[in-house]
Amino acid sequence: MPDQEKRIEESEIFRNAPMEEPARQYYFIEQARKLVKKKSEELGRNLFFCCVTFGCQMNARDSEKLEGILEAAGFIKGEEDRADLVIYNTCTVRENANLKVYGRLGYLHSLKKKNPHMRIGLCGCMMQESQVVEKIRKSYPFVDLIFGTHNIFKFAELLIRRMESDNMVVDIWEGTDQIVEDLPTDRKYAFKSGINIMFGCNNFCSYCIVPYVRGRERSRNPKDIIREIEKLVSDGVVEVMLLGQNVNSYGKNLDEPVTFAQLLQEIEKIPGLKRIRFMTSHPKDLSDELIQVMKSSDKICHHLHLPLQSGSSRILKEMNRRYTKEDYLALTKKIRQAVPDISLTTDIIVGFPGETEEDFQETLDVIRKVRFDSAFTFIYSKRTGTPAAAMENQVPEEVVKDRFSRLLKEVQQISEERTSRFQGTVQEVLAEEIDSHKEGLLTGRMSQNILVHFPGTKEEIGKLLPVSLDECRGFYYMGSRI
Ligand code: 5AD
Ligand code: SF4
Repeated sequence: MPDQEKRIEESEIFRNAPMEEPARQYYFIEQARKLVKKKSEELGRNLFFCCVTFGCQMNARDSEKLEGILEAAGFIKGEEDRADLVIYNTCTVRENANLKVYGRLGYLHSLKKKNPHMRIGLCGCMMQESQVVEKIRKSYPFVDLIFGTHNIFKFAELLIRRMESDNMVVDIWEGTDQIVEDLPTDRKYAFKSGINIMFGCNNFCSYCIVPYVRGRERSRNPKDIIREIEKLVSDGVVEVMLLGQNVNSYGKNLDEPVTFAQLLQEIEKIPGLKRIRFMTSHPKDLSDELIQVMKSSDKICHHLHLPLQSGSSRILKEMNRRYTKEDYLALTKKIRQAVPDISLTTDIIVGFPGETEEDFQETLDVIRKVRFDSAFTFIYSKRTGTPAAAMENQVPEEVVKDRFSRLLKEVQQISEERTSRFQGTVQEVLAEEIDSHKEGLLTGRMSQNILVHFPGTKEEIGKLLPVSLDECRGFYYMGSRI
C-alpha cells in the first residue's frame, strides 16, 4: 500500500468507521457533513454541487442516489459554473458519449482554475474501461475522484478519502455481488420514480459494451423492491419504472427464483400505486406468462420497449441476439393480440459489420410490418473489447449514413401515423410538468407513453386526469379538459 493510502487508512476517521453497510456509508456521510459545515463557515457561504448525467435511465437513477448522498452531506444543488463539486456520471455505450465527456472536461478545467476549491468527480460506465482511466490520469490530472458502476454506494467514503488525500483518488471494481440497500436518494420527480430491480447484463450482444462495464446480472430481492415501492407510494409516488438491462430475466439468479411476471403481480397489489412501467425487455426472454400478466393488469402501462436491433436473421445471429426476424414478428403479433392498444417502441442499429443492402431491407421490412410507435435509431459504434469491434467487414461511413437517413424517414412516417390513432378520444394522462413552451399548459403522458399538452395548473402535477386528444401534431397531442 503506498504511504499516503496507509496514512489515510490509519487516520482517526477511517479507524473509527463501522465495517458493515449501509452503516459505514451513513458514518461517512456524517463525517462529510462536518467537513462541509467547516468549509462553509470558512468561506462564509454554502457549498454547491452539480451532477451531470449522460446516457440511460439507469444512470439517471444512479445520479439520484449520488445527489441524495451529497444533500445528506449538506451540499446544495447548484449550477455547474459555480459548483464546488461537479460529478459527471458517464456513459460509454457509443463513442460519441465518450467524446462529449472529454470535450466538457476542458471546460471544467477552466472553471477549476477560477475556483481552486472546486472538486471534480467522474463515475459511471466509461470509468469501467481501463484505457479511459489511463487517459484521464495522463491528460486530465486535475480530476479529483474516479469511481465506477459497482461502488457508487461508497460515494461518501470516497469523497472523504479525497478530502484526506493530496492526489486523485481512483477506485474501480471489476465486478461485485454486493447490493447495498437503503441509502439516501434525491428523486427528480415527486410523483414518479425509477427503481432498479436488477443490475448488469449476461447477454453479450456482440456490439455491446454494457456487460463489460456493468458486470454480471444480479437481481434485487423481491421483498426489498416491494418495500422500496411501498415507501415511495407513501411519499406520493403514483408511477414506477422498473429498471434493468434485461428485465425479462429478472429473478433467475435469486436463491428462491421468481419470474418477472410474478414480481409484477406482487407490485400490482400495492395500494395507491397507479401505473407500472418497465424497461428494457429482451425479445428472447419475453414470456407468455408476462404477456398474460400485462393483459390482465390494471396498472401496467400499455407500452413495451422491445429492442429489435436488426431485422435480418443473419445479422441478428452475428449480433448474438438469439432470435430471428420471424421470432420477433411472431412475438409482437402475440403481444398486440393480447393488448390491442399497446405502443411498441424499439432500438435499431444500422451499419453493424457485414450489413448488406439486403440485410438493411429486412430491417425496413420489419419496421413496415410491426409499425412501431417510435424507434431509437443508432449508427453502429465500434466499442473496443467487444467481439464486433474485431470483425473485419466494417461498413463504410457513407453507406451507413445513407441507410440511417432512409431508416429515420421510414420510422418517423410510421410513428406519426401510429400516434394519430387516438385522435378525438379521451385518455387518462398523468400530468408531469409545466409546459415549457406555452403558459397555462401542462405536459403529461398517456399510458402508451405519448405526450399530451393541455390546460392545467401546477397543483395538478402528479394527478391522473381525463384529457380529450383534440389535435395530433406528429409525435404528441394538443388536448383539452373535459
Ligand atoms: N453501437 C450503436 N448502438 C449501440 N447500442 C448498444 N451498443 C451499441 C453500439 N456499439 C444501442 C442498442 C441498445 C441501445 C441502448 O443502444 O440499440 O438497445
Ligand atoms: Fe447490451 Fe444486449 Fe445487454 Fe442490451 S441485452 S445491455 S444490448 S448486451
